[in-house]
Amino acid sequence: MIDLRSDTVTLPSEGMRKAMADAEVGDDVYGEDPTVNRLQEYAAELLEKEAALLLPTGTMANLAAFLSQTRPGDAVILSEGAHPYHYESGNLAMVGGLMTRTVTDPFGKMTADQVAALVVQADDPHYAHTTLVSIENTTNRGGGAYYQHGEIEGIGRLCRERGLRLHCDGARLFNAAAAANMEARFLVQPCDTVCFCLSKGLGAPAGSLLLGDRETIHRALRFRKMLGGGMRQAGILAAAGLYALEHHVDDLADDHRRARRLRTALEGEGVRFTLPSPTNILYIEVDDAARVVRELREREVRVLPHGARRVRAVFHRDVDDAATEKAVEAFKEVLGKGAASA
Ligand SMILES: Cc1ncc(COP(=O)(O)O)c(C=O)c1O
Repeated sequence: MIDLRSDTVTLPSEGMRKAMADAEVGDDVYGEDPTVNRLQEYAAELLEKEAALLLPTGTMANLAAFLSQTRPGDAVILSEGAHPYHYESGNLAMVGGLMTRTVTDPFGKMTADQVAALVVQADDPHYAHTTLVSIENTTNRGGGAYYQHGEIEGIGRLCRERGLRLHCDGARLFNAAAAANMEARFLVQPCDTVCFCLSKGLGAPAGSLLLGDRETIHRALRFRKMLGGGMRQAGILAAAGLYALEHHVDDLADDHRRARRLRTALEGEGVRFTLPSPTNILYIEVDDAARVVRELREREVRVLPHGARRVRAVFHRDVDDAATEKAVEAFKEVLGKGAASA
């Protein structure tokens, strides 16, 4: 089965499993897991932030970032397509007591001007005060779009001028870095906090890192505990994360190349794409998503339906060139000019 539903389906590689088996571990809730500590130091150095914290998931990393930099009753600005707005069970409202103000954009991005138009800081009891802005890089619902450095700088400048905190949900930060052809540390330089996932294209079984200044990360540590994210001998996961950062980052560009290969082949068949797919995520317009999912599955290719007329295909390290070619053929059969009902 060629599983293109998500890059979260990646399985730990052999080298990763060995690194996990050999990991030196301790109780991380006491701060005594040497491998977790090593991963956190490594990540902080890599992204040039003062401190880092390992959390079990991207959802918890985002939530800890929001909780550490806001108070209940504050307003936060993010894209309408942003993962915390769409896919995190309403945790910003339920757990954070936060109001959201959203920017609508097909690519899931925001400009400094769009953010500026939503900031409310008036000393007027009618309004919730805006205290945090969150960008997503790359965007999930926006077709894997990424920010150019200058775009983030613009938002960062605005946030500094208005005394707002800037968070980056970089679940796929290293995909953004590969696409922008820029080291990730530059892309997050304007951000107060950033999180990235080890468990997506990087191939680790679980884990996300949240990074920022020492004080914020210290606050996040308390929220991680509060949310039940203290993981004891988490060095087994940290070893996978270290392995991923040391061995898997450079492979992300291949995922982008394979996504392009499928897109180009399907465009040649007249298939429509309403979003660009500059990284590893493709949204493909179809006549009937349920049919396409079913018929692809019969050809051993799995994709996700995304509404009635769109499917999502995500490339990742467990789909190599040969599998990509098989997927291209299956898609052509199901969607191409020759397909019975396409
Ligand atoms: C952009 C983005 N942010 C956050 C997350 C949450 O990550 P997790 O599934 O580890 O909670 C995801 C997961 O797909 C994501 O795509």
